[in-house]
Amino acid sequence: MEHNVQQSKSTTSRRSFLRKGLAVGGAGAIGAGLFANGLPAFAEVESGGLTKGDAAILRFLSALEILETDLWQQYNELGGIQDSEVPGGTGSAAYTKALKVLDGDMDQYIHDNTEDEFTHFTFINAYLMSKGADPVNLDKFRTLPSSKATGAQDIGRLTNLMQLTVDTSYWTKYRSRTKNPDFGDTFPPAVPGLLKGQFPAIPRDNNDLSPADHIQAIANTAGFHFAFIEQGGTSLYPSLAQRVTHPEVLRILLSIGPTETQHFQTWQDKAGNAPALTDPTNGLVFPDLNSPPFGGEDFQTNLIMPEPTIFLSRKFPPVSIIRPTETKGAAMGALKALTDDGLFIGQPQEFFDVLHKLAKQADAARHGG
Ligand SMILES: [Fe+2]
Ligand SMILES: [Fe+2]
Repeated sequence: MEHNVQQSKSTTSRRSFLRKGLAVGGAGAIGAGLFANGLPAFAEVESGGLTKGDAAILRFLSALEILETDLWQQYNELGGIQDSEVPGGTGSAAYTKALKVLDGDMDQYIHDNTEDEFTHFTFINAYLMSKGADPVNLDKFRTLPSSKATGAQDIGRLTNLMQLTVDTSYWTKYRSRTKNPDFGDTFPPAVPGLLKGQFPAIPRDNNDLSPADHIQAIANTAGFHFAFIEQGGTSLYPSLAQRVTHPEVLRILLSIGPTETQHFQTWQDKAGNAPALTDPTNGLVFPDLNSPPFGGEDFQTNLIMPEPTIFLSRKFPPVSIIRPTETKGAAMGALKALTDDGLFIGQPQEFFDVLHKLAKQADAARHGG
C-alpha cells in the first residue's frame, strides 16, 4: 500500500495532524474525528512498537470500559458508597436498602466495582498514550438523562439504566454440563420476564421508591444486570487475548480480564438472593429459582461455580471453563449484547457508528499483525 512506501513520513505527518485536531477540537473530537473522518486511523506498526491490531483491541476495550464506568457510576450514586474514591451522588436510602436485601455489603461491592472500571479505562488509555497511540474519549456522547431520584447527580450519561431488557441466560449457560455458546447452543433465562420488556434498574424518580415490591423489583433487576455486565467482560478479554501480538498487551488483557470474572462471580451469587416477587406496577415476575418449574442444577441458586462442559471439540472430556471464548467477531458480539440490553437507548446514530468502527477494527486484529 502507498502508506508503506513512506511510512515514517506519512505516519509522522498524520500523527501530528491528528494531534493538532485533538488540540483544536478538544477531547470530545477523538471519538468523532479520529474514527469517523475516513482517514486510516493507524499505521501497521504504531510508534512505540504497538501493532495496529493491538492498538485496535486496546481502544475497543477502553471504549467498553468507559461505558462500564458510566453505568457503574450511576449505580454507585444511588446504591453504592459515595466517597473520595468514587465521588458523585448522595445515595438513595430506599434503593440502597432494597439492594441490601441481596447482600448486606452490596453498597461496598457496587463501590468497588465502580472504582475498578474507572481504573480499567484510565489505565488502558494511559498505556495507549505511552505508546504514542491515541486514547478513546466518548465525552461528546454524555447526553442521556440522569435519574431524577434524590441522590443522583443531574449530569449527562453515556448509558441508560432506566429501560433495560436484561438477558439472564448467563445463569443457565454456566450451569449447563452439555452445552456451550461456542457450539451455537442457547440457554434459557433465569428471569424470563426481564427479556419481555424494558425495566428500570435504578429508580427513575422518587415515585419509584414505593411500593416496597416495586423498589425491590428495581433492585432485583440491578442485581441480575450486574452479573450480566460482568459475565460479558469475563468472556471478552480471553476472546480478544487470542489475537493480540505483544506479550505486554497480552499481559494487560490477562490481568484485567479475570477481575471481570471476580465481579461476575460475586454478582451471580448475590443475584441468587433476589427475593421472589411480582412488581405490582408492571407485572414483572422474579421467580423462586429453587422451586419448580425452576430449580434443579440449571437454576439452583447456590450452584455458583461453573459446571464443566464441552470445549473445543466433543471428543474431549468436559471441562470447567469460561464461555464463550470464540475470538471471531468477539468485539462486535459484545457491542451487540450491550445494545440489545438497552444500555444505549437514546444515543444518536453517530454513537453507534463510532462504536461499530472500533469493534470492527478490533475484530480485524490478528496475532502478529
Ligand atoms: Fe472493566
Ligand atoms: Fe466490569
